[in-house]
Amino acid sequence: MMTHAGTGRFAVMVRWAVLGPGRIAESVAGDFSHVADGELVAVGSRSAERARAFADRYGIPRSYGSYAELLADDEVDAVYVATPHTWHVAHGSAVLEAGKALLMEKSFTATLAGAERVVGLARERGVFAMEAMWTRFQPAIVRLRELVADGAIGEVRGVEADLGAGRPFDPDDRLFSLDLGGGTILDLGVYVVSLAQMVLGNPTRVDVSGSLMATGVDGESSYLLSYGDGRSATLRAAFYPSPGAARVLGTKGWIDIPPRFHHPDRIVLRRPGSEPDEIVLPPASAGYSLEVDEVNRCLAEGLTESPTMPLDDTLAVQAILQQAADQIGVALTDHP
Ligand SMILES: NC(=O)c1ccc[n+]([C@@H]2O[C@H](COP(=O)([O-])OP(=O)(O)OC[C@H]3O[C@@H](n4cnc5c(N)ncnc54)[C@H](OP(=O)(O)O)[C@@H]3O)[C@@H](O)[C@H]2O)c1
Repeated sequence: MMTHAGTGRFAVMVRWAVLGPGRIAESVAGDFSHVADGELVAVGSRSAERARAFADRYGIPRSYGSYAELLADDEVDAVYVATPHTWHVAHGSAVLEAGKALLMEKSFTATLAGAERVVGLARERGVFAMEAMWTRFQPAIVRLRELVADGAIGEVRGVEADLGAGRPFDPDDRLFSLDLGGGTILDLGVYVVSLAQMVLGNPTRVDVSGSLMATGVDGESSYLLSYGDGRSATLRAAFYPSPGAARVLGTKGWIDIPPRFHHPDRIVLRRPGSEPDEIVLPPASAGYSLEVDEVNRCLAEGLTESPTMPLDDTLAVQAILQQAADQIGVALTDHP
C-alpha cells in the first residue's frame, strides 16, 4: 500500500486485483473510478486472453492467465473474488494464503462449513476479509440503520422482503448449475436473509420451503425466520419477477425500502399520525464502489474485519442459507 504523496492526508492507496472477470466483475471494475483510495492494478482469469481483454476495457496495467500468477504479484494488496459460489472457498483461501486482503462476492461460500473454513483462515492469519454484501453500504441502508438505532419506529418486530428476478431456465448458465452453486438461495436469498439478519440478528428457528429445478438447484425459496420472542422475518427469493421491496416493522411505525431494496436510492419512514417521510439518498456511483471504499478504510485503520459487514454476520447468514438448502433439498458443496 502506498501513502498518498504530497496530499498531507493520512490515507493509503490500496492496490486492487480482480480474480474471475465475469459479469459482476465488469460492474465493479466500471465503478472503480468512484473509489478514492484504491486503484485496479491487476486482473487474473483462467484465460490469458480474457484477462487481457478485461484489462484493456478498464485500463488495468497487469493481466494474468491464471489465478496463481495473479496471487504471486507482490504489488497487489487486495483481491476482489467474483467467481461462482462453489469456488469461493478455494479462491478466497488462496487469496488469504497469499497474505492479501479479501473482498469476496456474496454468497460468501456455498456451504456453512466452507464459510467457517475461510473465516477461520482469515482470523488465524490476521488478514482482512469481507463478504461483498454491497447493500449494507448503500447510503439509504446506512440511514435506515441509524433510524432504527434511534428508535424512530419503536421496537423492531419484523422484516418483510422479496427479491425475484426473471431468469429463463438455461442449464448452461451458472444460475442453474448445481456444480457452480446456482439457485435462488445463494444468488438472491442471501440478500433477503442478510437484510433480516442485519436488522433482527440471528434467528432461533428457520423454516424454508421452495421448489427444485431439473438441474437440482432451487427456483424459489421462502423463509420464515423466528426469534423465539414473537419477532419474525418473512422473506422470498425467486427466478421469476417480483417487486424486490422490503419493509422493517416496529411498534411505532415502519420503514419501507422501495424496489430494488438491495440497492435502494431512498427509504420511506411511516409513522401513524405523521406524513410519510421520504428520505432520498442515492449513491454517487453505481453502488459497488462503496464496498471497496469500506475495505480501503478498514485497511487504512488496520482492521481485519468490517464493523458494518463483520464475518460473524456472514457466518450467521450462511447458517440460514445452509438450512434453506438442507430443507429444500439442494445438495450444495464447495470445491476443495
Ligand atoms: N453484487 C452483485 O450485484 C452481484 C451480481 C451478480 C453476481 N454476483 C455474485 O458474483 C459471483 C459471480 O457471479 P457472475 O454472475 O459474475 O458469474 P459469471 O459471469 O459466471 O462469472 C464468474 C467468473 O468466474 C470465473 N470462473 C472461475 N471458475 C469458474 C468455473 N468453474 N466456471 C465458471 N466460471 C468460473 C470465470 O472467469 P475466468 O474464467 O475468466 O477466470 C467467470 O467469468 C457470484 O458469487 C454471484 O452471486 C453479485
